[in-house]
Amino acid sequence: DPAMEAVDVLSGVQPTGQAHIGNYLGAFKTWVELQDSRRCFYCIVDLHAITVPWDPAELRENLYDTTAILLAAGVDPERCILFRQSDIPEHTELCWLLSGVCAHGDLNRMTQFKEKSAQQKDLVSAGIFIYPLLQAADVLAYQADEVPVGEDQRQHIELMREVARRFNERFGETFTIPEHRIPEIGARVMDLQEPGRKMSTSVGFDSGRVYLLETEKETRKKLGSAVTDSGREVKRGEGKEGVANLIGIYAVATGKTEDEVEAEFEGAGYGDFKKAVADAVVEFLAPVREAYPAIREDEGEIERILADGAAKAREIASVTLADVREAMGVGVPRG
Ligand code: AMP
Ligand code: TRP
Repeated sequence: DPAMEAVDVLSGVQPTGQAHIGNYLGAFKTWVELQDSRRCFYCIVDLHAITVPWDPAELRENLYDTTAILLAAGVDPERCILFRQSDIPEHTELCWLLSGVCAHGDLNRMTQFKEKSAQQKDLVSAGIFIYPLLQAADVLAYQADEVPVGEDQRQHIELMREVARRFNERFGETFTIPEHRIPEIGARVMDLQEPGRKMSTSVGFDSGRVYLLETEKETRKKLGSAVTDSGREVKRGEGKEGVANLIGIYAVATGKTEDEVEAEFEGAGYGDFKKAVADAVVEFLAPVREAYPAIREDEGEIERILADGAAKAREIASVTLADVREAMGVGVPRG
């Protein structure tokens, strides 16, 4: 039975417009790889973006930027379903319905909620609190089996599994319990200047992150001045977070294992190593950087791609929502 073997994938990205190599190595690279062997749903989550302060016009621009980055990176609307979250009202509806089986305390434990709410100066929105529940709805609406993400999303996926289990227990088997798919290398790319924390658009300075769309010169400068340590060995280990991070980045960019990278640079100095990392990253990003401008320019085409994706996505999500409503006793009963 082919339906038994079907493995569906769903993942999402926020439209920040400023994707960095952490996003690419931790997530987008896997998205592209999975397109041929799975049915993939990839969603640009504009509704998640309004949980922190935003500018409406910028949100639209950022959505096009992010969509164009994905397309330039090789996400192919012929081989996956690429869509905008807000085009599918089932996501927000399911988020609300799931709130009936999600514990307040579980949301309150979320590390990302604690971190992000602490950063807010004016308003800690209700949205930032239920953020993980909307994310659960994104995945559960499609009955996805696998969720390719970086390490920072592990806890959010645990939560959606718990919510799905609780729903199934209470209302009968309705949801597939999704599993995370976190890459072995690249799942947690660290800040180049403060390698004790992950590379992130919202914390730290530009010098600590390599953007997918910056110039080659900027990338070389940042990798060349990445923080290492007072030692001299290109090896992972205690107190060597900076070097370990560069080893991971180099490994993914070249397709080598981290052991192979350590062997390759045995006896080499940090200067030579960092130069090699910069060369590899620049080469790795070149196709994305070249493809981007023409794709970004054609907003009409981006809208057509998203509309097409939304039509396909909605067909699936609406079936799930009809089952959920029926199971919960909400709305017009089935005849
Ligand atoms: P976001 O931009 O926060 O929507 O993240 C998009 C994807 O990139 C998610 O799957 C994240 O887990 C992943 N990601 C974000 N930052 C990093 C990082 N520093 N290293 C690896 N993956 C990351
Ligand atoms: N919260 C995710 C992040 O910040 C983005 C996201 C939203 C997502 N919905 C999703 C990821 C569904 C995977 C599946 O990276």
